[in-house]
Amino acid sequence: MRNTQLLKNTIAQIFANGKGILAMDESTPTIDKRFSANGIPQTLEMRHAYRELIATTPGLNESIGGAILYDETIRQKTSNGDLITTVLKNAGIIPGIKVDMGAKALAGFPDEKITEGLDGLRERLADYKTLGTLFAKWRAVITIGDGIPTKACIDANAHALARYAALCQEAGLVPIVEPEVLIDGNHSIQRCYDVTEQALKALFDQLYYFRVDLQGIILKPNMVLAGKDSGEKNSIDDIAKATVNCFLSSVPAAVPAIAFLSGGQSPQQASQHLNAINKEYKERLPWIVAFSFARAIQQPCLEAWKGQDANVEKAQHLLYHRAKLSAAARRGDYKS
Ligand code: 13P
Repeated sequence: MRNTQLLKNTIAQIFANGKGILAMDESTPTIDKRFSANGIPQTLEMRHAYRELIATTPGLNESIGGAILYDETIRQKTSNGDLITTVLKNAGIIPGIKVDMGAKALAGFPDEKITEGLDGLRERLADYKTLGTLFAKWRAVITIGDGIPTKACIDANAHALARYAALCQEAGLVPIVEPEVLIDGNHSIQRCYDVTEQALKALFDQLYYFRVDLQGIILKPNMVLAGKDSGEKNSIDDIAKATVNCFLSSVPAAVPAIAFLSGGQSPQQASQHLNAINKEYKERLPWIVAFSFARAIQQPCLEAWKGQDANVEKAQHLLYHRAKLSAAARRGDYKS
């Protein structure tokens, strides 16, 4: 049973009216790192308060159609006693769930990673479905460096993504398929282009072998960018052009939507690049091109909150604003 119509409906709802996805699914070590950088205590209570702040932001549903949660959040309630998932659903925001178990060292391949989490995944997906989620996320990590990525790393990650995607579709959940080529390193934009293209081609090979219905997935990729330590400066249009060309050469038109991660770009950069892609290249794009940002939507909010109740309103306003700007970029209407 392929659940095609259900999957298509979920995707249509997430991206309706120019909306996109908010990633709020940082694993505990990741969110703790971000809290620590902002002087916020790294406790369960603080993580809970922060996720409640996000989910209860007034007007978030004007720009956000889906929110990706971490397992810790999925059973948490707000101070009013409502489940966070219920608050989101009542606002028309579909809850999704990160289901991978993290990127671990790939044995025999120094500095490369393989994402784990396939064992028991069918049962976990069934559980998440009963908790009201309609989509899931799995992130693979590809690092560029001396002699890497290897084909072994790219293929192993593509294989895992495809098996995850097939299990999600069996369960009636839309898989967000995320092969992230990291911005870390001193590589050129051309090298990022080549590696991203290779990773996407390997991914679509595996999705085909594993009988994944391309009409029922969301692709969550990196944009094509020079490494953050490269010193290479590219214009907004160079980045938009390289990104569009790379995806046109490797992503089938049957895929309904591409939702970019922000990947360490500033909120402004991520929005400018998404905006240029949609503004200058719309006619050539067979897919919805939207966003699934974490840092590029949350960063100003987190910095303003600082873990204090007195700052909640201001922090929520900043979150609302950045979500709104991301949606403007999806339409090609962003003004920085
Ligand atoms: P960033 O937008 O912060 O890169 O995060 C997106 C995400 O969900 C990574 O898996």
